[in-house]
Amino acid sequence: MSIHIGDLTPNFDVETTSGKINFHEWIGDSWAFFFSHPADFTPVCTTEMGRTAQLADEFAKRNVKPIGLSTDYVEEHMKWIDDVNDTQKTVLKFPIIADPDMAISRLYDMIHPGESTTEAVRSVYIIDPDKKIRLMMTYPMNVGRNFDEILRVIDALQLADAKKIATPADWTPGGKVIIPLSVSNEQAKEIFPNGWDTLRPYLRVTEL
Ligand code: BEZ
Repeated sequence: MSIHIGDLTPNFDVETTSGKINFHEWIGDSWAFFFSHPADFTPVCTTEMGRTAQLADEFAKRNVKPIGLSTDYVEEHMKWIDDVNDTQKTVLKFPIIADPDMAISRLYDMIHPGESTTEAVRSVYIIDPDKKIRLMMTYPMNVGRNFDEILRVIDALQLADAKKIATPADWTPGGKVIIPLSVSNEQAKEIFPNGWDTLRPYLRVTEL
């Protein structure tokens, strides 16, 4: 099954380190940061799990719940969490999905046979409270993800929803934003009373 941005995120029931969950019910009214890992007790994954735990307040501020996955059992995840906490100086509280039969990994296209037939690659799904997939990223096994980018893209998505804007290349919070083509100049006058710069008729930038 292929998954696309804008799709309803596939639902499932699964065992996690926080007990059994139904994915859609677990997301509830929050956003979700769903990210997969090749395996427990591996170095890059350990740093990523630790970083996610360290950023708990940043995710909570944005109403985002993190949830990890690797193709191991809950018992192994539990032992691994002790190592993550110890080596990354943190306390990991978010759930990690146990996917030993790769059912969820397959459902979410996280098994890329050119990398491994038994372990998930590093996929990221950002899911909104309507359970829609809003962003997908896929990293290979030997490259850890950039968590500044993960928070940045969540900020961009949430700002775009709130203010009907788009964000330019390398945007960071507080930076200039783009008035999308779907907004006419007439509409823009009402939404952006402080005006905007028209670099081209299709490229209008403004400060919020
Ligand atoms: C790691 O987390 O370091 C890792 C896991 C699987 C393959 C390669 C690297």
